[in-house]
Amino acid sequence: MNPTHASVPPGPPPRFPSGFVWGAATSAYQIEGAVSEDGRGESIWDRFVSIPGNVAGGDTGDVACDGYHRYREDIRLMHELGLTGYRFSISWPRILPVGTGRTNPAGLDFYDRVVDELLANGIEPFPTLYHWDLPQALEDAGGWPERSTVDAYVEYIGTVAGRLGDRVGHWITVCEPWVISRLGYRTGEHAPGRKDGAAALAAAHHVLLAHGRGVDALRSVAPHARVGITIDVVHFEPATDAPADRAAARTADALRNRSIVDPVLRGRYPSEVLDRWPSHASCVRDGDLRTIAAPLDFLGINYYTRNVVRAGRENGPVEVRVEGAEATGMGWEVYPDGLYAVLRRLRDDYDVPPLYVTENGAAFRDRREQERVDDPDRTTYVARHLDAAARAIADGVDLRGYFLWSLLDNFEWAHGYTQRFGIVYVDFDSLERIPKASFRWYRDLIAAERGGSAQPAVEERRAAAG
Ligand code: FCB
Repeated sequence: MNPTHASVPPGPPPRFPSGFVWGAATSAYQIEGAVSEDGRGESIWDRFVSIPGNVAGGDTGDVACDGYHRYREDIRLMHELGLTGYRFSISWPRILPVGTGRTNPAGLDFYDRVVDELLANGIEPFPTLYHWDLPQALEDAGGWPERSTVDAYVEYIGTVAGRLGDRVGHWITVCEPWVISRLGYRTGEHAPGRKDGAAALAAAHHVLLAHGRGVDALRSVAPHARVGITIDVVHFEPATDAPADRAAARTADALRNRSIVDPVLRGRYPSEVLDRWPSHASCVRDGDLRTIAAPLDFLGINYYTRNVVRAGRENGPVEVRVEGAEATGMGWEVYPDGLYAVLRRLRDDYDVPPLYVTENGAAFRDRREQERVDDPDRTTYVARHLDAAARAIADGVDLRGYFLWSLLDNFEWAHGYTQRFGIVYVDFDSLERIPKASFRWYRDLIAAERGGSAQPAVEERRAAAG
């Protein structure tokens, strides 16, 4: 054949499989505001932010991005981006103002409208059922350290799935179990701000139990539901090759990652957890671990940075700052290889279901110049992490989607509004939204990766995802 007549030269092979979900993520308390509207009850974050000293600048989520009122405008932005998935969270106190018992119809109506609006725009909803905003009434009754909170959670998600289950295909039970128990009940950096080791251990177990029981509850109400959990798997590396530092990195991994991933995927706690915290076993009842290890349809991974550790006192792991390393506004090292390592490790070490990156992104000191916000660092950050994700796929990882954190600048927990993670800038006075340069970059990337194709129907994408 005359080579000059050869048809279109083969382009680079697609980096992401067909049906790959291009997404962005947010959470209820961080964007919704409207905390006292339409019957919403008080959450532990409402209470926590009201205590001076808990949040930078005394900021609160009272208004946040006003997403409760502006969700249509936000979904228009998602449509403009070409998103095929949106991960948001449902506010428990909007659905059940005091955690159990009385349902608030206006709360269900709100998420009903959000889901319909997403679907009308060709965007698949990926709701998270618990992204940290426990109803305060349940905390008053003991919170996550109490087993009864698990029953309340099951009631809550049954109510939500009963209403939305006919249209929502993918559910995430819980976001970052380790953060919920550790920062909420041990260090007190997050709501409810308790500093009680025993409570934190009980909370850790009950959050996982809620997840496990939640999987069953969702499937019984919505039989076609695909159910997963979001875990912040951290990539640990030893500061040096010294055996003590390497052992410290292994311990850190056991306490932080395997304490969650092992019960969820293997039905057992690592021996390091049981040795270090013998009292942890006291709240574990027969059958709990079997429940926690309910088979999953997918696993969500949140990845932002790596942690380097050395051996400290009694060889316990101590975090080390890497001098001169490139870092984000949060001071988190930029380390895309860690995402590759986490994805590979899950595939290599576990019988893992399909994976999604449910959060990845970066805060930087963005400056608005009239109607422009140029944020090249964020674009570079996301591009490099997507390269790492593509490499993992090429090496056999079954990664089905990527949700950029975050669509909007929002209330970054104890940091208040000081950390901007959005690809859309939010003016917190006027609540105006201004897409940043990274928004346009992500939009173009999605279009290019999807071959400029028109958006397939949600059903087609579901079928393609198998
Ligand atoms: C994750 C949280 C999310 C956001 C990002 C920056 O741990 O799930 O709400 O705060 O960090």
